[in-house]
Amino acid sequence: MSRAPESAPPARLDHHALERYETAWLGVAAVMTALLFVGVLASVVSGTYPLLDAGSGHAHDGPIVRGRVDPKNLAATPFAKPGLVVDAAGQPLLNDQGTLDAYIVAGNFTFQPAVLRVPAGVPVTLHVTATDVAHGFEVTGTNINAEILPGHVASLTVTFRHPGEQHAICNEYCGVGHHNMITRFVVDPPATGAKETQ
Ligand code: CUA
Repeated sequence: MSRAPESAPPARLDHHALERYETAWLGVAAVMTALLFVGVLASVVSGTYPLLDAGSGHAHDGPIVRGRVDPKNLAATPFAKPGLVVDAAGQPLLNDQGTLDAYIVAGNFTFQPAVLRVPAGVPVTLHVTATDVAHGFEVTGTNINAEILPGHVASLTVTFRHPGEQHAICNEYCGVGHHNMITRFVVDPPATGAKETQ
């Protein structure tokens, strides 16, 4: 009866090899800590924050540059006319990328426009900004949810499949009127001529 060949004993790391691994991983941790420190320091010094939208170059955007806007001068931007961008006849106006734009302003414990209307079946980009403090923007029953900061534009492109009525609410505490920040959000039946996608 032959014995199974004895397998070689597992290679054991000696004391010094283990120390080398430990030193290497300590080095990795040190580099990561240093990068984190430099990143935080740089963002504090330059006053930059992560952008929700690093610049959508839409024709309607005007003085919205790389997701930034002057909250004191919204009159010079498309936010001066909150709501869906429409043509002279009041029909939804496609931008050069073939989608719709809607502008929404949060401030003074309200959202403008008073009723947010978008058509179903067409991609629409919701551009949302704030005039005063940080707010939230959530459309109930959807995954549309963003933090809205003065000076910043959150741009969310979505296609609403089903007509209906929901609410847009502020879900970030912004002051005494926070609980009043609730607005009708209406998805209209597909606009005439627009393709319906199901
Ligand atoms: Cu606006 Cu809470």
